[in-house]
Amino acid sequence: MIIIDKLNKSYEDIMFYIKGSDSITILNEGLQKYVKDAKTNDILTLTDIVGAKVKKINVICLDKNITIKSLSKLFAKFIKSNKGNFNILVDTISKLDKELVVKQLVLDYLYYSYNFDRFKSTKKEESNYILVSKTDYTSVFNEASILGDAIDTTRNLVNTPVNYLNTYELCDFVTDLVSKLDNTTLEILDEKQCEELKMGAFLGVNAGSLQKARLITIKYQGLETYDNPIGLVGKGVMFDTGGYSIKLNMNTMKCDMAGSATVIGVLQAAAMLNLKVNLMVVIAATDNRINEHAIVVDDILTAMNGKTIEIGSTDAEGRLTLADALTYIQSKGCREVIDMATLTGAVVAALGDYITGVFSNDKKMVNKLIECAKAEDEIYWELPITDHIRDAVRKSSVADLKNRVAPAAASAAAAFLEEFIEDGTKWVHMDIAGTSYLTSPSYLEPVGATGVGIKEVINYLKTK
Ligand code: BES
Ligand code: ZN
Ligand code: ZN
Repeated sequence: MIIIDKLNKSYEDIMFYIKGSDSITILNEGLQKYVKDAKTNDILTLTDIVGAKVKKINVICLDKNITIKSLSKLFAKFIKSNKGNFNILVDTISKLDKELVVKQLVLDYLYYSYNFDRFKSTKKEESNYILVSKTDYTSVFNEASILGDAIDTTRNLVNTPVNYLNTYELCDFVTDLVSKLDNTTLEILDEKQCEELKMGAFLGVNAGSLQKARLITIKYQGLETYDNPIGLVGKGVMFDTGGYSIKLNMNTMKCDMAGSATVIGVLQAAAMLNLKVNLMVVIAATDNRINEHAIVVDDILTAMNGKTIEIGSTDAEGRLTLADALTYIQSKGCREVIDMATLTGAVVAALGDYITGVFSNDKKMVNKLIECAKAEDEIYWELPITDHIRDAVRKSSVADLKNRVAPAAASAAAAFLEEFIEDGTKWVHMDIAGTSYLTSPSYLEPVGATGVGIKEVINYLKTK
């Protein structure tokens, strides 16, 4: 747990010492000598301190050119290496904007101490942190906690395997969440209603599944009247076996609903923060697996917007579900839409685990989102949709489109989605296949879901 409190005499715990400064007034002179000899980035543990209220003081030695980013790195190291209860003396971090420091410490604590132990017989003991300061930072603390909790929601959903979180269980989760949030409403369409809407692409993916298709719509009203909602579409493939184009390796494919988990996280944060914006979240939920009803290659599906699609691979299923979700959300009045999806292995090959690929039909919108990501130290990289790629997606001898194009596969997937974006709709597609789930993290993160996208999109919504 992490909480915030006013500085008083009983707090003397973790302090930050900036090399070359005299910022440590709380330490007595003898101790200052130790600290002053310490090297930058050292984490010192001082024990048996004469006259101190606590037995131990941890001192994190910061470089005089400290930035929020380097502070965060050190703090991550501290969280990972120390178990127990700690008080953090925020005021000892001079030089940096304290509001940013508080926000970062809260988010880092929640991020790095996260532990998906729902299915472990022995649970790890939680460390407790208290941020203390002479100044009242409660409001920035609360905001960061809301973001951190939303990120946890997303990570828990993504990390939960499909035998505990299938299509129906996702619907139950969302029903429960919406019942706890103000100004939100929920509508879930069943497979018959999806049929009436002629969602042939989405239903094609669902054909081989035990659970029937569900189209989830959540609205959040942050303005007087519910007009011009911003649309958020999340890929909700609860598990991706590849279908009859079966995957040779389907490890981690429980993460194929990360897009939907992320839009749910964004909605939770937006509602808890009372953002002055209207939102519409749409998730076409299904898994992609095989039975005697499942689609096969060469099948032709007709999407909700009337376009026909030749199936070149049943493993390119995400774009089929998103196609109808995008048509649907626009039919409900969204003219500015962001979709998030673990869409292609190709984006992972191109950009790896720490850069999200973004595609758009609107320079201003995508640049703004990239800036909003930068502010959170996240890298979003725009990739192209060119006319060659559009041509390739349209090059089917039997239908309007085909769902599988080999070269430039991440761009081809985006070009496919673009076929479902109507004139006048501003749109960004985020391919989070690499960034939403880490199998071998490089920077002390736990294995599994990251919650990428939430802080960045919340920043974007705040600019509205
Ligand atoms: N769910 C996968 C993409 C994916 C890959 C997500 C790695 C997370 C990590 C997607 O449905 C898929 O299988 N895409 C195919 C498309 C191809 C058949 C055109 C791919 O990327 O290989
Ligand atoms: Zn697939
Ligand atoms: Zn998939």
